Amino acid sequence: MFISFEGTEGVGKTTLIQRIYAYLEQQNHQIVLTREPGGTVMAEQIRSLLLSVNHQEQMSHDTELLLMYAARAQHLAQVIEPALRQGQTVLCDRFTDASFAYQCAGRGLNPEKLALLNESFVSRMPHLTFWLDAPIEIGMNRARERGALDRFEQEKLSFFEKVRLGYETLWQKHPERIKRLDATQIPDQVFSEALQYLNFN
Ligand code: TMP
Repeated sequence: MFISFEGTEGVGKTTLIQRIYAYLEQQNHQIVLTREPGGTVMAEQIRSLLLSVNHQEQMSHDTELLLMYAARAQHLAQVIEPALRQGQTVLCDRFTDASFAYQCAGRGLNPEKLALLNESFVSRMPHLTFWLDAPIEIGMNRARERGALDRFEQEKLSFFEKVRLGYETLWQKHPERIKRLDATQIPDQVFSEALQYLNFN
């Protein structure tokens, strides 16, 4: 089983992933917990490049998209594919839906570019995706409390509103895979809502 977790900043992905990890571990699942961009040494280096703020040179939107996919290709080859082949469960903090939400809906890139990259480089999609949804203000306050803001977190609220709409579009298009969780609830409630969708029988 390959499960991804999506949402705008500060919606509580990390907390939910940890809860699900603990729950599955108790049931003797072998689990790989990973994230995008990142998840391998090289992909984490690409992540640093993507998240760091560079005042001398602005990253073009195309470069951002391609770096996301370079990291993803490495991650799929090194971590996701081998784990799934061995029958392990993969919990992945973000995957291709984030590229649609951030690079297409947020930055305004043509979705055809993304479709081409997905067709060429994404060997498989998650079986299940949790979209944690909450008003942008709530999440941004949580992100600010965490400390220094990365290159994405420094974007305006209007950018994240577009990202959120991007996720909504995906959710409406793929209701069988993407499950919306109300992330304004307390973590216990978000977790029990998520449990309803975990069926390993
Ligand atoms: P994180 O905050 O969930 O660790 O993710 C890092 C940032 O990368 C987050 O702001 C969303 C962004 N991102 C994209 O823009 N496109 C992508 O494809 C992925 C995986 C992440």
